[in-house]
Amino acid sequence: MGTRGRLVVVANRLPVHRSGGSDRWEISPGGLVTALEPVLRARGGAWVGWSGTPGRAPRPFVLDGIDIRPVSMSDNELKLTYHGMSNATLWPLYHDAIRTPEFSGAWWSEYVRVNQRFAEKAAACAKPGDLVWIHDFHLQLVPAMLRALRPELRIGFFLHIPFPPEELFAWLPWRREILEGMLGADVVGFQTRSDARKFATAARRFAGTRSSGSTLRHGARCIIADAFPISIDFKAFDALGRDPIVRQRATLIRERLDPARKIILCVDRLDYTKGIDHRLRVYERMLRGGAVSADDSVLVQVAVPTRDKVAEYATQRATVEGLVGAINGEFTRLARVPVHYFSRSLRHRELAAYYLAADAMLVTPLRDGMNLVAKEFVATRSDLGGVLVLSEFAGASQELRGAIMVNPRDEDRTVEAVVGAIRMTDAERRRRMSRMRSAVRRHDVFNWSDTFLGALAP
Ligand code: ADP
Ligand code: G6P
Repeated sequence: MGTRGRLVVVANRLPVHRSGGSDRWEISPGGLVTALEPVLRARGGAWVGWSGTPGRAPRPFVLDGIDIRPVSMSDNELKLTYHGMSNATLWPLYHDAIRTPEFSGAWWSEYVRVNQRFAEKAAACAKPGDLVWIHDFHLQLVPAMLRALRPELRIGFFLHIPFPPEELFAWLPWRREILEGMLGADVVGFQTRSDARKFATAARRFAGTRSSGSTLRHGARCIIADAFPISIDFKAFDALGRDPIVRQRATLIRERLDPARKIILCVDRLDYTKGIDHRLRVYERMLRGGAVSADDSVLVQVAVPTRDKVAEYATQRATVEGLVGAINGEFTRLARVPVHYFSRSLRHRELAAYYLAADAMLVTPLRDGMNLVAKEFVATRSDLGGVLVLSEFAGASQELRGAIMVNPRDEDRTVEAVVGAIRMTDAERRRRMSRMRSAVRRHDVFNWSDTFLGALAP
């Protein structure tokens, strides 16, 4: 990686939050921050983003050596861009239109305006020679807007979510504008090769781009569009899995749930893309068919509520909670509740204890850019215990070949896969886990950021 210049990160959210209601800012835990913090510290840098609270932006400040540049977002702007264009148009469209995307000219105009604001903030803080790295679907227009303001900068863009197939992308009334926006970057990164290929196809068809392999030619410029699969801090999760206090907590969880029961674990944001309802129906079938009972198994679903102002999310929550109630109503035995449902976020160490306690982990999204939960589970299991059941529609399925792969809509075969997972022999379980651990160890989040920035640096 080149060492000249700082790194300027531009993302919808800042990597900080106010600690416990006080005025003090703290770095928020999370994949992207973990990945970029060491780079930001080593070469210095800034982060442009929204603070998470509507209204006027706080003044810029420096935290742990990172220059924090808050962008303001009013209630109405949030409604039209974050809840509207980002989470009710782009998110469902890019996830195979699992829910019908809504198209609104008013949302789009506001999305353009807010992207322009992010571009101007980035332009104001980037110094000559800095690398600028823009993230995700909220900010797809920023690369070209920033290039118009600062043509000399090296600009990277990474899409954390899937890029849709041509037939779906074609629905977007602003498809050419979005492509032109992303093509303003020098390097456009995706989670998988298939996403990068779909982008090249869309750019050829709707933006007149020419392409050869991962190189695109757009007007007079050359752009790299390639896969850079994101990952996690393997060493940190591995260490958590070996930590005696975390291990003790895992033992306690097993004891509380009853060591005679197989623990089937699921951890997600409560998003309709995650397939939580399909998975609950799979467990219901297992109980009904007698493959398992509440005496010998328990499904633990940890689901963090998210984007609750978007109607589809409220509906999904009601569906999931209805299913949990119905399953528990029918299959509970005295002091044996089959589905344990946590509607909240768990702290890292607690999450690691659940990862360690699980016999099987179900990661069965209908579509997911990558899915870091799957990688975190694998990294925590240095004991080589636990089986991963993974949807073939998660980006992680391209790397985690030791998982039992499922099509989450095929509930019959998913039942067989989960039963197979909890009955797997020790030898096979160890072999599969060991293979997956090597993949995540080799390709951790630091490797991800180094590779991307290596492609971006002049
Ligand atoms: P997404 O980005 O769509 O939310 P990922 O699986 O890629 O999905 O990343 C989710 C991140 O949020 C992971 O780091 C995971 O540990 C964390 N997370 C998800 N659900 C919970 C939860 N219930 N409690 C704590 N952390 C969670
Ligand atoms: C996905 C997106 C991120 C987003 C996160 C949480 O991982 O790719 O950009 O930050 O979900 O969603 P939220 O809407 O709470 O930011």
